[in-house]
Amino acid sequence: MEHINGSRKCPFNGESEQLNGDKDNGFVKTPLRIKLPQALPLKNHVIDFESADNLHSKIDEESTSVPVPCGEKVCLSSVMHIPGRGETPRTPEEVYKEAQVFIKQFYRSMHSEDSVRHRQRINEIKEEIDKTGTYQLHYVELVFGAKTAWRNATRCIGRATWRNLTFLDCRSVTTATGMFDALCRHIKYSTNKGNINSAISIFPQRTDGKHDYRIWNPQLIGYAGYRQPDGSVIGDPARVEFTEVCKKLGWKGEGTAWDILPLVLSADGKAPEYFDIPREIIMEVEMEHPKYDWFKELGMRWYAVPAVSNMRLDCGGIEFTATAFNGWYMSTEIACRTFCDINRFNMIETVASHMGLDVGANPPIWKDKALVEVNVAVIHSFQRDQVTIIDHHTASETFMNHLKNENRVRGGCPADWIWIVPPMSSSLTPVFHQEMALYFLRPSYDYQPPAWKNYKWIKPDTGTRTVKRKFHFKQIARAVRFTSKLFSSALSKRVKATILYASETGKSEQYAKDLATIFGHAFNTQVQCMSKYDFYSIEHETLLLIVASTFGDGVPPTNGTEFMRLLLEMLNEEKQNQVEEKLSFSAGSTPYSSSTPRSLKRMTSILAASMEFSRQASKQNLQREISRSSVKSGMGAASDQISALSNVRFAVFGLGSSAYRKFGHFAVTVDSILDELGADRLMPVVRGDELFGQEQTFRKWSFDIFQTACETFCLDENDMMKDAERAFDLTPLTPETVRFGKPLADLNIIKALEAINRKQLSTFKVEEVKVIGKHEPTDSTTVFVNLESQENIHYEPGDHIAVIPSNPKDIVDAILSRLTDVDDYDKKVQVLVLKEKLTPTGIVKSWGSHDDLPPASARDIFTRFVDITTPPKTPVLKYLASACTDEKEAAQMRDLVADSNKIDDWNYFHHPHLAEVLAQFPSCRPMGAVLAALLPPLQPRRYSISSSPAVHDKNIHLTVAVVVFRTQNGNGPRRYGVCSTYLQNLTHGEEVLAFIKKAPTFHLPKQITAPIIMVGPGTGIAPFRGFWHHRRHQIQHSEVKPGQVSLYFGCKYKEMDLYKEEKELMVKEGVINNARLAISREAGVEKKYVQAFLDEDGADISRMITQEKGHFYVCGDIKMAEDVQQKLKEIIIKHEEMTEEEADDFVISMMNENRYHQDIYGITFRTAEVNSASRETAKRTRCESIR
Ligand SMILES: Cc1cc2nc3c(=O)[nH]c(=O)nc-3n(C[C@H](O)[C@H](O)[C@H](O)COP(=O)(O)OP(=O)(O)OC[C@H]3O[C@@H](n4cnc5c(N)ncnc54)[C@H](O)[C@@H]3O)c2cc1C
Ligand SMILES: Cc1cc2nc3c(=O)[nH]c(=O)nc-3n(C[C@H](O)[C@H](O)[C@H](O)COP(=O)(O)O)c2cc1C
Repeated sequence: MEHINGSRKCPFNGESEQLNGDKDNGFVKTPLRIKLPQALPLKNHVIDFESADNLHSKIDEESTSVPVPCGEKVCLSSVMHIPGRGETPRTPEEVYKEAQVFIKQFYRSMHSEDSVRHRQRINEIKEEIDKTGTYQLHYVELVFGAKTAWRNATRCIGRATWRNLTFLDCRSVTTATGMFDALCRHIKYSTNKGNINSAISIFPQRTDGKHDYRIWNPQLIGYAGYRQPDGSVIGDPARVEFTEVCKKLGWKGEGTAWDILPLVLSADGKAPEYFDIPREIIMEVEMEHPKYDWFKELGMRWYAVPAVSNMRLDCGGIEFTATAFNGWYMSTEIACRTFCDINRFNMIETVASHMGLDVGANPPIWKDKALVEVNVAVIHSFQRDQVTIIDHHTASETFMNHLKNENRVRGGCPADWIWIVPPMSSSLTPVFHQEMALYFLRPSYDYQPPAWKNYKWIKPDTGTRTVKRKFHFKQIARAVRFTSKLFSSALSKRVKATILYASETGKSEQYAKDLATIFGHAFNTQVQCMSKYDFYSIEHETLLLIVASTFGDGVPPTNGTEFMRLLLEMLNEEKQNQVEEKLSFSAGSTPYSSSTPRSLKRMTSILAASMEFSRQASKQNLQREISRSSVKSGMGAASDQISALSNVRFAVFGLGSSAYRKFGHFAVTVDSILDELGADRLMPVVRGDELFGQEQTFRKWSFDIFQTACETFCLDENDMMKDAERAFDLTPLTPETVRFGKPLADLNIIKALEAINRKQLSTFKVEEVKVIGKHEPTDSTTVFVNLESQENIHYEPGDHIAVIPSNPKDIVDAILSRLTDVDDYDKKVQVLVLKEKLTPTGIVKSWGSHDDLPPASARDIFTRFVDITTPPKTPVLKYLASACTDEKEAAQMRDLVADSNKIDDWNYFHHPHLAEVLAQFPSCRPMGAVLAALLPPLQPRRYSISSSPAVHDKNIHLTVAVVVFRTQNGNGPRRYGVCSTYLQNLTHGEEVLAFIKKAPTFHLPKQITAPIIMVGPGTGIAPFRGFWHHRRHQIQHSEVKPGQVSLYFGCKYKEMDLYKEEKELMVKEGVINNARLAISREAGVEKKYVQAFLDEDGADISRMITQEKGHFYVCGDIKMAEDVQQKLKEIIIKHEEMTEEEADDFVISMMNENRYHQDIYGITFRTAEVNSASRETAKRTRCESIR
């Protein structure tokens, strides 16, 4: 190698003319670690291409000093030992210094260096160090650190997959038994039936150096080596010393060549204990050769998982002295080094003789021939047993790709050529011809002295220190089960499961919490709303579960929007990277020219992004464009690309309604993107249909995904599974676990409602409620509500107001009269829940307040906090069954709840509210506390604001369609919508609590000159009234000629022509230039929908949106919105002579430019029709959806 034989100087040492020429009196300073400002050229001698390493010059930024072994005039890079930082624990000052560098790296990796969070974290660490002398790394920081240490491992050829490392957090372990349990789990997980998972287990950090945790074994799995009197060895010669150590501790092996060494573990600086590893969890491969039958007779074997367990992780100033990590084998490690090294199994002559080669020949090329065949045997045997292995050629190529990639994204890649080049056929592999720069970055895996070297051995007969007896796995398991079953499950919770939800009306949130209860039995589970989630930690997730609904026209709920945007952004980046990578690999220095698909270009509109994504995905363009790389394909070679989320396992559940064309679309989109990003899908996405069997589908999915996840992470303990399974059947909130108690705080009703809604509420006084549309025969009423604010409010036309409703008094009273645990309906109480907390001594139970129910009177709870009008769900019905004193009634109700499809049918036909259910079961006497805890929260309802602050700065106007319908297919009693009826019945001076929800994508254009087209049948007209008020005000205060305004309004009957006079006035004044009215059900009037008028005015509309950059607004129910969008496309196709695809693109571009605006209400406008049609379809397909 040119750079080794002296023609180039070592960058960290020796004289360097440019940089190190500052000689003092002719004396050359000893400049260890000079920071070279310029790039270090590294040549590839095969393709005659020079790359440059810049990363080395950032060592101080990326790391802190790690000395290299080279002297001034001698390069020592072939010396085995890499000097570490020594054994003395760091001082608090040193810890803080390292922490700063590391935390900076961490936040830079999350694109948030110097952010508030970054600074806060540094302050937090400083405080913790000041207080305790050290600090604890957060989970994600340690995951990042462990992965980066692998990335920095100069000697590892297989680190292209550095992102793909599963972190098993063992920092809460305190005993050697706990360590053993964790390491058995590590072995099981990483073995994974031969499809090896890379994993790392990390135990508690070093404190004062006297309480270290150590794994004494060099690797978790190893064969003993017994030195014989004649000096020969039975077993692995490399393990002779460690075998002696085990024997000294009292271990006795069988004395065969293949005895598995015990795990020798010391916790908290205590004496070591040894544990036999159950043989059944160790996967071994027996060697045979595809051609030579005699090979099998040699009796060679090796284990599947190479797990290094004696290195120390140095991360952020913290040292982890007990770690175990594994990837998978490269064939030469076993075939050349283990089997054929002269100081190991030394098989080369035996194999050559069996092959019939002349083993006396000189030169001894027979050795090379035999070595190839040993490699063939090893690869063949691993592949036969479907155990992951990589050959040295593939590994080298993968590493070359990794080098190029690292040069591109990181500016360099420290590598130890001597270790990287494989031990056979070196010059046939590309790494041989590649110059490499060797330097050391932190985080890092460092060598440390063997644990037994520093251990103070005391003779058993004289000393006080006793060596612990051995334990067998089964004994331990039994003992643990007997002493504390919980202990075992606590130990198992080392795999983190993150459950993210996005929810508009709260169902997904509830489902996510239910899921967390189940996963809590086996995983370290966290449940979070997508909007609160720190997105950049996604790549460090191990198990990610998503529960999300869909809103609008297939878009995320509000609290999922940002997550979706960031996901698309990540996909975009990933795509760019892959294109760049491909180009740089194929064409050397070819300049990058990416053709990022449109879908992945940064979209300003989430609606456009999601639409475009699904369009492309459905055409499978993305799948073709992004050649997904799997980390390993079963038994085979590792591939050369690791995607951003390749280490994340995931599954998605979508809530939605098949009434919508884009059923569960958000969930499906998230599922596809995670897949595109390389995450590992544990189960296909499942959608739960609110029109049919949603809950049942969810329960089945949660059970399936729990089982799959347990299998994936080898958490198969029977007890744990059974406990979790029980959670599916049990209603956790029962009379034994829930009761009313004294209020723990004194909140007034507003504060209590603010707490439950997590929103600051404004108080409004009712000025007026009046009917503005009424059609008696169909029970259709629309009211105008004028609310006066009691404080300053800020809104824009197009925004929404969310109203906190009250349940109807008659229903509340009927329920209160049945409760057994309330004497005074108006006395403040607190719902208390018996909470269980796991402690080292077992479960501790204590009563605590219910998380979502603040202190309030029973009357207030049932009036304002819980939903009593939506037909009760299974858990409520189950509880009610148990509260029936009449056995016949109880049996009847049990029969109902036994089949959730029956419940669905019953709900659909009767749509019973809670009081009606109680009326049907007169013996039912429930406890109010349990009911309140089981019922879903009463949700605020949104209304489009029908006023403009420019005209009414203190008031907000609403246009409310009162929901009234009959059950039993239109023949039963009337049901009333909660909030619309509440608003309808308000009288002058009454108070209403509400908050404003911004709808920034539905605001008027900034320029008054921009034409606007408004399409809004029914109450879809609501926001447009605010628009025309605002436009009128603008016109009155502006000289500029306004753009054209067109309004398309539709209703069933003439009586429902809302704001008729006002519209006429606006037309007269020129505020609205074109107002169209479509009437669809009036006898004697031609049946027309708004689309018909859009069609008629097509040329005009087309001109306004294409040439005049007009804005198009649609408001109302989803079906109408879909039809209108389709109509608009037809108009563009017709008048602009576009193809269908071009018209699609045009609408997407309008969304992106924020010129196509939708405000969608769901299906309340035509609920009955849509429900029954969709329900039939859903029913037909339900078997498939729940299968
Ligand atoms: C962004 C947005 C803006 C909105 N703007 C407005 C607006 O400006 N004006 C307006 O009036 N509404 C608007 N809504 C709708 C509004 O939020 C409420 O959904 C609506 O008022 C009904 O609420 P409720 O409490 O009266 O009815 P609920 O008590 O919530 O009952 C409604 C439910 O009743 C059931 N239902 C209704 N009809 C039938 C039927 N025929 N058969 C069986 N079941 C039926 C359905 O399950 C439906 O979900 C808007 C909604 C959204 C999301
Ligand atoms: C305004 C509105 C729009 C909706 N749009 C869709 C949709 O496009 N696709 C879908 O599958 N479901 C749609 N739904 C149904 C919801 O996803 C469904 O009610 C879900 O159960 C709500 O769950 P959440 O409470 O977690 O938000 C819509 C509901 C409403 C009210």
